[in-house]
Amino acid sequence: MAEHKVICWDCGAEIADPYENTCPRCGGLLTIDIDLDPVREMRPEDLRGTRMGVWRYAPFLPVDPAHKVSIQEGGTPLYETDAVAAELGVREAYVKFEGLNPTGSFKDRGMTVGVSRAKELGATTVGCASTGNTSASLAAYASKAGMRCAVFLPSGKVAAGKLAQALFFGAKVLSIDGNFDDALALARKMSEERRIYLLNSINPYRPEGQKSVLFEIMDQLDYGVPDRIVLPVGNAANIWAVYKALTELKEVGWIDRMPMLTGIQAEGSAPVARAFARGAKDFVPEEDPETVATAIRIGNPVSGRKALHAIYDTGGYAETVTDAEILAAQRLLGRKEGVCVEPASAASIAGLGKLREMGIVDRDEKVVCICTGNGLKDPDTIIENSPSPIRCGNTVADVERILSQP
Ligand code: F0G
Repeated sequence: MAEHKVICWDCGAEIADPYENTCPRCGGLLTIDIDLDPVREMRPEDLRGTRMGVWRYAPFLPVDPAHKVSIQEGGTPLYETDAVAAELGVREAYVKFEGLNPTGSFKDRGMTVGVSRAKELGATTVGCASTGNTSASLAAYASKAGMRCAVFLPSGKVAAGKLAQALFFGAKVLSIDGNFDDALALARKMSEERRIYLLNSINPYRPEGQKSVLFEIMDQLDYGVPDRIVLPVGNAANIWAVYKALTELKEVGWIDRMPMLTGIQAEGSAPVARAFARGAKDFVPEEDPETVATAIRIGNPVSGRKALHAIYDTGGYAETVTDAEILAAQRLLGRKEGVCVEPASAASIAGLGKLREMGIVDRDEKVVCICTGNGLKDPDTIIENSPSPIRCGNTVADVERILSQP
């Protein structure tokens, strides 16, 4: 575990109260200042003695592994996706497949650290608002930790697999009349009244765990820094977490340059990409976000300003993609690589294709796309956008007739 301080990202004030999620002085976003001195004397190889996963990187984490609540998160594959690279016209493309985490999304990385922190503080009830994955993950970690769990979900807009997980793991599932932003406002109110320990990514311990996706990518590429990392942006904490991990690796001298961080949003839900297009440091919230990628259907991203900073500071980019482009990219991964990701995750591949066409991404680039969640989370979208099963009689002749059709 690293010595650390919780500080305000905006005014730098040190935050003493462990239940604060914003700065009591200026209302700013919080972040964690990690003491990296012990890591400066280490090399990446020194961490390789343990299983690849979030806790391999404990010297960069603000929680004592002795309190860890873990179901073996992280350690996900980095696929070299040659067919995607050929199709999109880039030299080297990789997919970091976060759908193989215990609950099927990258959220488990932040949740193992966040729930371990909750345990350290003696919290008994945890909660979050969610478009689905955060709630599935928190429900699982709360059950492992023996904590009560309440999840606040936008009514009717959560993919079936995610809803099933939250119910299955025994959370109190609250269906809120409104969108994610409304659900988060209520969850934050509950937290301000100290009725729940909030485990949305506004809690600065969550992104700390999410840093590990970048540590793993660098481990898997043997510290050969890619030119670009592309990922979907919703509430905007993950791109910030990746950026924070990069700045820490640079600070300890394990890398000497940063990849261009590239955030992709759905066209109907794109406050960060629109701010980037204007060259603005802050975003304008969107009232009625809509997209097939329900995971990133968010109009008022909590970490939007941090995301914009990460993009500008690395010379990266932000772009939108349409629902049709998202579904085509999802199909491409399935048909050419045997990888099944959910629509939000496919946004990264769709975005890479679009930016290549626009000439923003160069043919010579080595690119990593982070595919954040498993396609099985949202079977309805896959079934709706796939051909129907073919009626077949119980005879060899009928099977042959069908197989001979194109
Ligand atoms: N991809 C998936 C599959 C997600 O579930 C999310 C966010 C994102 C990308 C975007 O990440 O918010 O850090 O920019 N899902 C949250 C949830 C909002 O409630 O599960 P972000």
